[in-house]
Amino acid sequence: MGKLDGRVAVVTGGARGIGRAIALALAEEGARVAINYHSSAAAAQELVDAIRAMRQEQAHQAGGADADAEVAIALQADVSNAEQARGLIAQVIERWGRIDILVNNAGITRDRTLRKLTDEDWLAVINNNLNSVYYTTTAAMPTMIEQKYGRIINISSYVGQAGNFGQANYGASKGGIIAFTKTAAIELARYGITVNALAPGFTLTDMLAKVPENVQEQIKARIPMGRFGKPEEIAKAVLFLAADGDYITGQQINVNGGVYM
Ligand SMILES: NC(=O)c1ccc[n+]([C@@H]2O[C@H](COP(=O)([O-])OP(=O)(O)OC[C@H]3O[C@@H](n4cnc5c(N)ncnc54)[C@H](OP(=O)(O)O)[C@@H]3O)[C@@H](O)[C@H]2O)c1
Repeated sequence: MGKLDGRVAVVTGGARGIGRAIALALAEEGARVAINYHSSAAAAQELVDAIRAMRQEQAHQAGGADADAEVAIALQADVSNAEQARGLIAQVIERWGRIDILVNNAGITRDRTLRKLTDEDWLAVINNNLNSVYYTTTAAMPTMIEQKYGRIINISSYVGQAGNFGQANYGASKGGIIAFTKTAAIELARYGITVNALAPGFTLTDMLAKVPENVQEQIKARIPMGRFGKPEEIAKAVLFLAADGDYITGQQINVNGGVYM
């Protein structure tokens, strides 16, 4: 028996990086997981196959029947687009009849100092990182309200708390997520829906790999724990909120090696 047996989860941007680790962690505890992707179709399908294989193995080890093949699906959607983001949530509800856990993880960076930032850079990051959270949350809410149950977990960043050179657009999107999370938590608590933000520090994914190596070394020197985080370490906190966070709402949980306290 997993802690999330019978639950339906959606992870935006779930095919790689932090989203992939989150999707795996939720599936390991028994949730059905819809893995949203934008451009990483092959990685999304590979993850679906890996989750199916894992659940098959779990079923065999428990001496039970074959696992349901529908334990994971991959769904393409650009969540910065209102129609596609809402369509993503609608597809999950149509397919599986409910939605229990929504992890708003999709995100991008377009780093430039304010002197060089263009309107396009600003809007792309706000649309991808912040507006997407509004679209999917409001689309999932009616079903969660009917169920009287929901766990919404928004992936923010320590940059939304502390700011960072060259990341005004990103920081604003991630700070906006924290503010959005608190209001949604206040409004939805009465329906059994919790809404929390998770603020990772620097985590080993493609996003961090884009940062020049010498800058990575400078960043590392600022982290009290002296190393970058692993996607699995972020996923553990998401799993905790989803499975055991019954009385936690409106919070920002920092998983950052101490880089911001
Ligand atoms: N890595 C870090 O140091 C760090 C620190 C703090 C917070 N975070 C946050 O953690 C989250 C995951 O980051 P990551 O490091 O795993 O990044 P990543 O490796 O660059 O992956 C980004 C993910 O977001 C998806 N995505 C981007 N735009 C999308 C869109 N419009 N629609 C659907 N999916 C979209 C990508 O999907 P496709 O590949 O399918 O296009 C990909 O799965 C982000 O919100 C990020 O801001 C990361």
